Amino acid sequence: MHSANILLFEGSEQAAVAAGDAFIASARTSGTRPVGLATGQTMTPVYDHLLTIDGQANGLFADTVFSQLDEVIGQTSPVDSFAAEITTSLFSQFRATPAGFLMIDGQAGDPADEAIRHCSAIRMAGGLAMQLLGIGVNGHVGFNEPGSPDSSRCRVVDLAASTIQRNGYDTGMQGITLGIADILAAEQIILVATGAAKAAAISAMINGPKTPDCPASLLRDHPDIRLFLDKEAASQIS
Ligand code: GLP
Repeated sequence: MHSANILLFEGSEQAAVAAGDAFIASARTSGTRPVGLATGQTMTPVYDHLLTIDGQANGLFADTVFSQLDEVIGQTSPVDSFAAEITTSLFSQFRATPAGFLMIDGQAGDPADEAIRHCSAIRMAGGLAMQLLGIGVNGHVGFNEPGSPDSSRCRVVDLAASTIQRNGYDTGMQGITLGIADILAAEQIILVATGAAKAAAISAMINGPKTPDCPASLLRDHPDIRLFLDKEAASQIS
């Protein structure tokens, strides 16, 4: 991976603000093509920054179509879904309603069909102008757990034990995620990683073999990928 695509910041806040600015720049030029949102704690300060800038520029995202990266299946309450989290933490606080949200329904009767429907909704909207990503401690992106090949498409997946444990899910939890091939098809990729817990995954992504064992490594030759890392997350890069 070209070192120019690896952007290093002193702290997590600076990394989040820079990633947020890159996200805004991309959203401004996306036209009617969707820009992909992620969930996870890493995104909280990124989204806080989007809200700050939106507060200063009325209607910043009024023309933006957003789309969803992944979703948990069958949470007992729909309010625990990623879609609800995105709606509450972001859309409901924007000054103007976004032009659209291509969401994944984690309570759909047939999750496999829902995955295919989501994929084609993105394709019909012109494909992803940009996908925002975090990274799992095991190198997952979205819910593409270790073992996900670069040909993988939007589908139902079993969550890895470490993901279930870290996120406090029930054993056997499944998700719907864009595949590695879907993420690679995005025109731009912005990946954010902060904190020491992500250091090994970032090192494996950048310096390790390109392998489904570390799904994030399969993204590193994308022509327009940028990594926004704080010092801790970057501490094991060689
Ligand atoms: C979760 C999500 C990913 C997210 C990652 C990191 O399981 N499926 O989309 O990027 O794990 O989450 P966090 O930022 O909370 O560490």
